[in-house]
Amino acid sequence: MSLLLSVSQIRGPILTQLRSSTSISIRKMSSIEQFRQSPHKLLVIPGPIEVSDEVLFANAHPSMSHVSPDFIPVLGDCIRMTRTVVDTAKGQPFLIAGSGTLGWDQIAANLVEPGENALVLHSGYFGDSFAECLETYGANVDQLKAEIGAAVSQEAIAEALGKKKYKLLTFTHVDTSTAVLSDAKAIVETVRRVSPETLVALDGVCSVASEEIHMDQWDVDVIITASQKGLGTPPGLSILVASVRAMQVFSSRKSRPTSYYGSWKKWLPVMQAYESGKPSYFATPPVNLIYAFHASLSKITKSSPSLAERYELHRDASRRVKAAAQELGLKQLPLDPAFAANGMTALWYPDGLSAGDILPRLVKKGIVVAGGLHVDVKDKYFRIGHMGITAVEKSRGDVDAVVKALGETLAEAAAEKLKQANDRFGPLKDNGLMMKARL
Ligand SMILES: Cc1ncc(COP(=O)(O)O)c(C=O)c1O
Repeated sequence: MSLLLSVSQIRGPILTQLRSSTSISIRKMSSIEQFRQSPHKLLVIPGPIEVSDEVLFANAHPSMSHVSPDFIPVLGDCIRMTRTVVDTAKGQPFLIAGSGTLGWDQIAANLVEPGENALVLHSGYFGDSFAECLETYGANVDQLKAEIGAAVSQEAIAEALGKKKYKLLTFTHVDTSTAVLSDAKAIVETVRRVSPETLVALDGVCSVASEEIHMDQWDVDVIITASQKGLGTPPGLSILVASVRAMQVFSSRKSRPTSYYGSWKKWLPVMQAYESGKPSYFATPPVNLIYAFHASLSKITKSSPSLAERYELHRDASRRVKAAAQELGLKQLPLDPAFAANGMTALWYPDGLSAGDILPRLVKKGIVVAGGLHVDVKDKYFRIGHMGITAVEKSRGDVDAVVKALGETLAEAAAEKLKQANDRFGPLKDNGLMMKARL
């Protein structure tokens, strides 16, 4: 029985529901209506993101056997809806307890054999980590590094692929450390032109469900993501989709997978069984998180706004945040607006101001943003997430709240600096130019 079906049959107060220990069919609709998460600061880091009451309520499902007839179709539905999110008909999803990092491990352990070559495109911090993971499993890794704020050019990719045979090319669709959005379609086109058999893996931890992705149309071989960003679910689920080509490469490997927990030999039969409505076991799935994921995926793939409309809403939220930042004189890390993410914004601190001037003030106003992450410049910028319900449910007013708090924070921080300068050097006229000179 699917969660959506059972939810429509339920009634009664939340306490009754929470004390009851049987199947999802007794969960009460009025319980969902009564459930409200406690007041909290607005979480607008680039993941984890704000999670809806509905999804959190689904997470609070009574504990269930992972092989019960009620739970099996819930996981089966999640597998099917995951295909919808990345727009593939035949891709094979793997939904496994773990974080986004487990996606790298799965790729390294199942698609690369020790001694094989992998090319990692680097548009920020997460390229280094993906490369390190591949090396841990014995791959020979080369990295193509773009300057901070840029994506690797198609010319550089073509040149590298022309010089050496690579089993795998990986890229970070949105690098969460820089907010750089790589052109996934163009990258795969380049690979297919120069080295058609090279597998292409897209790290979509910070892009799936926020940035447009068409796995089949673009011919991507592997997409990895995690539950806690665009997919609007608490952290703890590694989500990977492998193409038919990737599964063939996996089946024809000469050595066995180099991980036990992450082995597709173990997980493929489990995914296939649940999708066909049968129980199976290798390691216990995160049952409650799967209920939460089901609630979020149902909203994303089966309700209004549609997936295409959601992408547009993310673009709209992004435009609003970026326009407001520009108005305030803040510059973005991405060097070219065409390569800037829609689910997050990375902004340099203005001259004279630093994390200590901005982040605690925002927290005081109830807004939690993230500091910098790219090792070379991490103290010089900060990051704002606008994914999931923050971008899609305009009535929440999240983007407006962020924009307002940012404006107030910058004004307060600048006024404080001006006061400090006045105290030190004597009063000066408070105009913009003077402020700049003083900072
Ligand atoms: C682009 C990208 N890849 C991989 C990861 C690793 O995911 P996790 O922290 O869930 O292990 C992250 C985390 O933020 C990420 O942003």
